[in-house]
Amino acid sequence: MTKISRREALVVLGAVTATGCLPVRDNPGENLAKAGVKVGVLTDFPNIGSNRNLELADTPAIIARVAKPQAGSISIGDIHLIALSKVCTHFGCVVTAPVNNELGCPCHGSVFSLETGAVKQGPANKPLPTFKLEARSDGIYAIP
Ligand code: FES
Repeated sequence: MTKISRREALVVLGAVTATGCLPVRDNPGENLAKAGVKVGVLTDFPNIGSNRNLELADTPAIIARVAKPQAGSISIGDIHLIALSKVCTHFGCVVTAPVNNELGCPCHGSVFSLETGAVKQGPANKPLPTFKLEARSDGIYAIP
């Protein structure tokens, strides 16, 4: 039986790990994020302003049809969709349902654009973050 030193064992282990030859457990959360979350199909968004609410990565979110392409939106033909976090960037309250293409925060009165997530009225000073959207053969997916 051949003995190897502890140092030799560490070198071999490092090389095997670096080449990916050892089985590495997948991160289930990472795989879920790559798989995405189905947020609907195009017919769920028949008009500008049509929207759906759901949780993405444990974050309340809204997916809305917007009038034109925006940073963070996707376009399928002439349909443009954006996914926004509904967590106010001021102190984390959840914004209410859109009214007149705006999302209002019930806590301190910030107002955000449904089209872009931009702040239209403070005290919040950062826009609502967007989630990446992808169009797939069976629907629209958000990648949390
Ligand atoms: S938490 Fe939304 S305005 Fe303060």
